Amino acid sequence: MQFYIDSADIEEIRQANRRGWVDGVTTNPTLVAKTGRRHEDVIKDICNEVKGLVSAEVLSLKADEMVKEGVQLAKIADNVVVKIPMCEEGLIAVRRLSAEGIKTNVTLVFSPLQALLTAKAGATLVSPFVGRLDDISSNGMEVISQITQIFQNYDLATQVLVASIRHPIHIMESAMMGADVVTVPFKVLQQIVNHPLTDKGIAQFLKDAQNVPK
Ligand code: E4P
Repeated sequence: MQFYIDSADIEEIRQANRRGWVDGVTTNPTLVAKTGRRHEDVIKDICNEVKGLVSAEVLSLKADEMVKEGVQLAKIADNVVVKIPMCEEGLIAVRRLSAEGIKTNVTLVFSPLQALLTAKAGATLVSPFVGRLDDISSNGMEVISQITQIFQNYDLATQVLVASIRHPIHIMESAMMGADVVTVPFKVLQQIVNHPLTDKGIAQFLKDAQNVPK
């Protein structure tokens, strides 16, 4: 399973990348707005730092405009993936961008059938949002289980990228279900490295090492 970082903050992306945790990056307009910088500049910096795929989202809601925006974003670097919101116009744009050899990631997916349509449109990645489903008392991981099953049944090429991850159990269950990618906030990546028994064990070993004759 690949680990992407869900961030537009170049400093934390660098920190995570230097620890070897970053196979790719997802951004969205909210994350880019937090940086206070121009979209294109943010994506350019991330693409210079990270070798894997970097998702950059379009803002238009009409297929023609989405395609124009997508073509411009794809010119920033070879590893840019154009992120398109799930909607009828979005699926048209995905077909057209895919035909031009431009990679796409369909975002804001909340049901298995939205994911199936995304795969049929030829998207590179599909992003079901688990945390936002949990937030409204639906079961986000149940949707991932359904999507991975359907994609296996029909041997679909689109990769399942589990998004809106809130805690380590989302990552654990994604791996058990065979999701292709998880996109994870930096603080959750740090949470999965740490364990209180590891800290306790390190402290004990260091203490005991003081009793070893020199
Ligand atoms: C994914 O591509 C999105 O950027 C992200 O995972 C959304 O997460 P949120 O629901 O925590 O905003």
